[in-house]
Amino acid sequence: MSQPHLDEHAHSPFSLDVWKRMLPHALVYRAHLIWMGVAGIFLALLDTLFPWMTGKMIDEVTKVGLSQSLRQYGIGYAVMVVMFALSVWFFIWLAGKIITGIAFDLRDKGFRKYQELSFSYYDKHSIGWLLSRLTSDCNKLSSLVPWLTLDVVWGTTLLTFLVIAMMAQSWQLALVVLSIVPPLILVSIYFQRKLLESARHVRKNNAKIIASFNESLMGIRTTKTLNRESENLKEFQGLSGEMYDHSTRNALQNAVYLPIITSLGSIGIGLALWMGGYTVGLQKSAGISLGTLIAFMQYATLLYHPIEEIARRFSDLQNAQAAAERIQELLDTEPAIQDSVLVRQAIASYTPQKGIAHDGYPDKIRHIVFDHVDFSYNQKETVLKDFQLEVHTGQTIALVGSTGSGKSTIVNLVARFYEVTQGAILFDGIDIRERSLHWLHSKLGVVLQSPHLFSGTIRENIRYGRLDATDEEIEQAAKMVNAHDFISRLPKTYETQVGEQGSQLSTGQKQLLSLARALLSDPEIFIMDEATSSVDTETERLIQDGLERVLSGRIAFVIAHRLSTIRSADRILVIDKGVIVEDGDHDTLIKKKGRYYDLYTKQFVQEQQSFMG
Ligand SMILES: Nc1ncnc2c1ncn2[C@@H]1O[C@H](COP(=O)(O)OP(=O)(O)OP(=O)(O)O)[C@@H](O)[C@H]1O
Ligand SMILES: [Mg+2]
Repeated sequence: MSQPHLDEHAHSPFSLDVWKRMLPHALVYRAHLIWMGVAGIFLALLDTLFPWMTGKMIDEVTKVGLSQSLRQYGIGYAVMVVMFALSVWFFIWLAGKIITGIAFDLRDKGFRKYQELSFSYYDKHSIGWLLSRLTSDCNKLSSLVPWLTLDVVWGTTLLTFLVIAMMAQSWQLALVVLSIVPPLILVSIYFQRKLLESARHVRKNNAKIIASFNESLMGIRTTKTLNRESENLKEFQGLSGEMYDHSTRNALQNAVYLPIITSLGSIGIGLALWMGGYTVGLQKSAGISLGTLIAFMQYATLLYHPIEEIARRFSDLQNAQAAAERIQELLDTEPAIQDSVLVRQAIASYTPQKGIAHDGYPDKIRHIVFDHVDFSYNQKETVLKDFQLEVHTGQTIALVGSTGSGKSTIVNLVARFYEVTQGAILFDGIDIRERSLHWLHSKLGVVLQSPHLFSGTIRENIRYGRLDATDEEIEQAAKMVNAHDFISRLPKTYETQVGEQGSQLSTGQKQLLSLARALLSDPEIFIMDEATSSVDTETERLIQDGLERVLSGRIAFVIAHRLSTIRSADRILVIDKGVIVEDGDHDTLIKKKGRYYDLYTKQFVQEQQSFMG
């Protein structure tokens, strides 16, 4: 139920370094951001002008009474309101462009990275974690940029303008009103910090709730069969309760914060009135006018806005820091397996030549050698130790052995999904690491232990193996693996939608489609990891017959628990704890009466029994 990756950076202190590294992503839109700043300065100017104009107008009215010039003020207000509206429209439009642009760029970079990264990366990160990097984290960062720019520029400019305007009109009154600024700053910092904390709790809780949702829904079938419904509900209610507490705390803090800072604003007004009223009444000549006084009252109410906004944006910044760190980390991750510098140079200097691949070595594969290979997934547990194997074109190699013995690992290494820890895998004498990954993968047809389909039609899913395949070739491949029959029986045949991850099909049907897809790519190396484990025995036998024809002239690795599948393999390797304990064809191994013989006879008897009973 725990999601260790979810919020690992949430409590790190503010780090300028992280933001410096994120800056280039925002600077792509520097022209937009400059305009955002211009809008901020303009708005601050308008904000200061409104009270100033009001003061001027009142002074005029008190001096000469209602006059013609009122109309000019009216026009002045109208113009300012229109300009205000226009600039609001402008910055909202601009912010939209910046947000969409940055989110798009980050997602694009992140997605590219996901395509490059190796299997080992996906072993370490859950799908939920990977998804939220490209969704919530990208959103958080992209929406931060324009608003932070606008509010910081607007806020600091407005504060400056307000101070200048006040000082210009009456420095004594200015000092009195400005005395509320330090408490405003302190209160804002204090509450923003509190709010940040409770918001983090809410978010963390939220993530837990989503993870719990996810897990419960993914496992809903298992839950039902195990009668775990009430326990799951209890767990969920616990999380929900915590969420309630944190959310109400956050709301309460918000509810206290705003009244406090608006009251501070009112205190400013009170001070202005008190000081100003005194001077207005007593010494008209040296004191300040009524208009100035009213302008000051408005300045005082304006003061808390920029301070509050700036404080809030900085807390947003801190809030988004974890997201920034995670995205940066993702973008910085180098794929564990990639073409070496030498390979890249060879590809760059390649001149097309018959029979030579784009990395400068022979295109065709004749033999594969495991040369004293050691391998472990995590440095702790050694899966293969001094593993040796030589395989030639035209051979079908079957791997059998108990669960966890290392069969999938062996084929993972052939496909270079993982890198060997010691020793080497040689293709025609050349270390696999000196060859291009693209070349290697173009040679492979892999059907993994858990078949995967993409949402789309059956035809599209098979075509995935070779995008330029014709409809006939697709049907040919489907016939070869005996999938054509069941496809033809579907109402929409090859145009049937398979649903997300092929959810509309049975596991066996998915296996058949993955097999057809792999065949279509016409691979030199064919890897089938339990590729037909969920298909009935009769269908499997038919596939076997079809495959035998296709596999001639290729190298095939077949992993199967059902031993009837691999009877006709050229070589059967019995693997135990990462070591080959028997090696030979079916007849030889049966005669030997060793491990394979035991396994085979046991399964044979079981099958007979289940058939009879
Ligand atoms: N991605 C992984 N990360 C860490 N350890 C792994 C990983 N995959 C497999 N292992 C470990 O490596 C060992 C060999 O696993 P492997 O998948 O090769 O077994 P297998 O023979 O294919 O088993 P099965 O018949 O169940 O598919 C096991 O002990 C397993 O725990
Ligand atoms: Mg396996």
